[in-house]
Amino acid sequence: MNSDTITEIVKRGYTDKEVAKHYGSVTEIWPEEKFIFDKFFKNVGHILDIGCGGGRTSFYLASLGNKVTAIDLSPPLIEAAKQRLAKEPANIEFYVKDAQHLDYSGNHFDGIIFSFNGIGYIARAEGKIKFLKEVRRILKQDKFFFFTAHNLWSVNAYFLGNILRVTKIFFSKLFHINIREKEYGEKYDDAPNIEVPYIDIKPKKKWDKIIKQTEFKVAYFNSKYGIRDKRLFSVFKDYSGTSNYLFFVLKK
Ligand SMILES: C[S@@+](CC[C@H](N)C(=O)[O-])C[C@H]1O[C@@H](n2cnc3c(N)ncnc32)[C@H](O)[C@@H]1O
Repeated sequence: MNSDTITEIVKRGYTDKEVAKHYGSVTEIWPEEKFIFDKFFKNVGHILDIGCGGGRTSFYLASLGNKVTAIDLSPPLIEAAKQRLAKEPANIEFYVKDAQHLDYSGNHFDGIIFSFNGIGYIARAEGKIKFLKEVRRILKQDKFFFFTAHNLWSVNAYFLGNILRVTKIFFSKLFHINIREKEYGEKYDDAPNIEVPYIDIKPKKKWDKIIKQTEFKVAYFNSKYGIRDKRLFSVFKDYSGTSNYLFFVLKK
């Protein structure tokens, strides 16, 4: 499956009535996001919020004294964000746009974010590297890009399924069997109640390699629970917990 087809699958998932209703109505910022935003994105200028959903993070970033351009693949989510904006005026502009086509000029933004593991919907390592290079291009020098991601090898509710999937991919490569998953971390799910039928979750070590290829510097890294518990990332404590996401702040 090529990346355009995968993007269509993701778009369909987030355009679904129930999914759009959920993300269109969440407004709360996590304390761990607040910690990052207050530290790196207070009064910085013009921020791009990628995969903004219903504007959950966009409104908080605007409240920190920023102008925010917020984009998302899903038309109903952008519609929900615009409806919120009509009720809660703020310095934000919402657009339907694919994160893989960032047609802005170079050195344009004073900060960029992609919150709530949205980067997992950018297919495969190659797609993620291409995307990060584009983010770096449109970001001004010495400014920050923040994103969160699932960690493939976390011992959580998905661990067993992840091991089975990785084993399946291993044998498909060994015996040259053509399956949809081309890379460790890719997950297609055809269950009818699934939120989005595709995601690509990389392990922490793979993220380190991906970032190395983009010329970004890691300005800050921790897990969600590390920030919550006011401690550094720990391999022993942070490879568990279903919502113990990886928090990266990259600097151009
Ligand atoms: C888990 S939701 C998070 C929404 C919002 N950031 C929040 O925190 O509430 C992920 C969002 O990423 C968006 N998304 C996924 N792939 C995208 C892409 N290629 N371009 C733009 N948005 C994308 C989805 O439409 C969805 O709204």
